[in-house]
Amino acid sequence: MSKLKIEIDYDFCQWSELTEQDKQLIKHAKEAVRNSYANYSHFHVGAALQLHDGRIVIGANQENAAFPSGLCAERAAIFAAQSQAPEQAIDAIAVAAHNEEAFLNDPISPCGACRQVMLEMEDRYKQNLRVLLYGTAGIYVFKSVKDLMPFAFVDENMRK
Ligand code: THU
Repeated sequence: MSKLKIEIDYDFCQWSELTEQDKQLIKHAKEAVRNSYANYSHFHVGAALQLHDGRIVIGANQENAAFPSGLCAERAAIFAAQSQAPEQAIDAIAVAAHNEEAFLNDPISPCGACRQVMLEMEDRYKQNLRVLLYGTAGIYVFKSVKDLMPFAFVDENMRK
């Protein structure tokens, strides 16, 4: 038996340490929170995508009385972008969340299903998708979705 270890790299940044482009993307994610329909959880999430051509596409979580019919902000944004501009790679995604009181202190953590969908974008466009997770205490920056989801299932796993 050999014991193996996985290490992941990510940055914890303060607002002042971000580039203008990243600040803009996070601002869009925070604004997208207003479009959340979170009638059941009262947990409002916004996501903003930086498309390769510079466009920004936003999404917000959309809930439903039949709970599984709802969708997270990240997937709402990604599926909107894919439907409108399938030729555009997605360079980055920013996510922000607001509970009943305020934006979260700690960076929001995307669910497993959203990580899987984000990973598919890396596979589809053959490039890394940067992930910016906003919290009022600071921002986590991942250079690739793979760092958020080791041992992920991708197309290649069906071939070898
Ligand atoms: N949610 C998101 O939209 N994104 C996340 O990263 C985590 C959770 C939504 C789903 C649901 O509408 C609410 O937050 C509570 O789980």
